[in-house]
Amino acid sequence: MIICFSGTGNSRAVARELSRYITGETVEVEKGLLLDPASCVIEVPENEAVVWVMPVYSWGIPPVMERFIMKMKMKCAPTTDHFLVLTCGDDTGYADNQWRRLVGRRGWNPRGSFSVQMPNTYVLMKGFDVDSPEVVAAKMGAMPARVEAVASAIKRGFADSDVVRGSWAWVKTAIVYPYFRRFCMSPRPFHATDACITCGLCARSCPMENIGMADGRPRWGNRCALCLRCYHTCPTHAVAYGSATAAKGQKTDTQS
Ligand SMILES: Cc1cc2nc3c(=O)[nH]c(=O)nc-3n(C[C@H](O)[C@H](O)[C@H](O)COP(=O)(O)O)c2cc1C
Ligand code: SF4
Ligand code: SF4
Repeated sequence: MIICFSGTGNSRAVARELSRYITGETVEVEKGLLLDPASCVIEVPENEAVVWVMPVYSWGIPPVMERFIMKMKMKCAPTTDHFLVLTCGDDTGYADNQWRRLVGRRGWNPRGSFSVQMPNTYVLMKGFDVDSPEVVAAKMGAMPARVEAVASAIKRGFADSDVVRGSWAWVKTAIVYPYFRRFCMSPRPFHATDACITCGLCARSCPMENIGMADGRPRWGNRCALCLRCYHTCPTHAVAYGSATAAKGQKTDTQS
C-alpha cells in the first residue's frame, strides 16, 4: 500500500512509478483526508507494507503530514513494515528520523527510508528558484531507475536510511526546520497580481480548500500547507508571495 501527499505533483509521480512494483492500493492524502485526518481509516491487508511518499519541507516532514500521521486510523498487523520515500529538490536533512519518531509513536514499525531528487518547487525566499530545464530533465530522467531501486530495496526489507542528507543536516532539521515552521509558513503574503484572469483554478486545486473567490479574485485563508500548488499551477503566473516571487519561475514538468 502507498500513502501519498503531493503538493505539486513530484511525490504523486514517484508514487505512480512505485505502484508498478509495490502491491496494494494508493491512497492520496488530499482535501477531505488532509482537513479531517481523524475521519480516515485505512485497512492494510496482511503481508502488505505501507510506503509513505511525501515531499520534504525545510529538511523536515510537512506539518500537514505530521498531523495526518498522528490522527488517522490504521488497521494493520503489529508486524506491518512502514517505509518512507521523501521527494526533495536537493537533500532531506534528518527528516526521515522525524518520520521514524512519528510512526513509532503510533506503535507502528518504521523500517527503511529513501529519498528521490525531483524538480525543486520552493521559491519563496531569496536564492531559491525552480530548476533550469536541463536540471529538470536530468532529475526526471533519473527518477524511474531510482524508484525501481527503491522498490527493490523495499521488497528486500531494507531497514536503514538511503537518503541524501546534505551538509549541516542536523542543524537544518533541528534548528532551521522549527524556525521555518514557526515564522516562514504563513499564507498571509499570498495574493493575485493584475495578471489574474479570474479562472478560479487556484481555488479549485488547493488541497486544503484554503482559497475562496471574492468578486472573481482569489483570497487566501489561514489553512495553508505551503505546498505551492496554487503558485505553480496558475496559468498566468499571477500568484505572488509578497515580493519574493516577482522574478521566480513556475514548475512545468509534472502534473499537480
Ligand atoms: C515549503 C517547501 C519547503 C521545501 N524544502 C525543501 C528542503 O528542505 N530540501 C529540498 O531538497 N527540497 C525542499 N523543497 C522542495 C520539495 O521538497 C520538492 O520539490 C518536492 O519534490 C516537492 O514535491 P511535491 O511536488 O510532491 O509537492 C521544499 C518545497 C516546499 C514547497
Ligand atoms: S489560477 Fe491564477 S489566474 Fe486563475 S484565479 Fe487563480 S490567480 Fe487568478
Ligand atoms: S493556499 Fe496554495 S500553498 Fe496553501 S495549501 Fe492551498 S494550494 Fe497549497
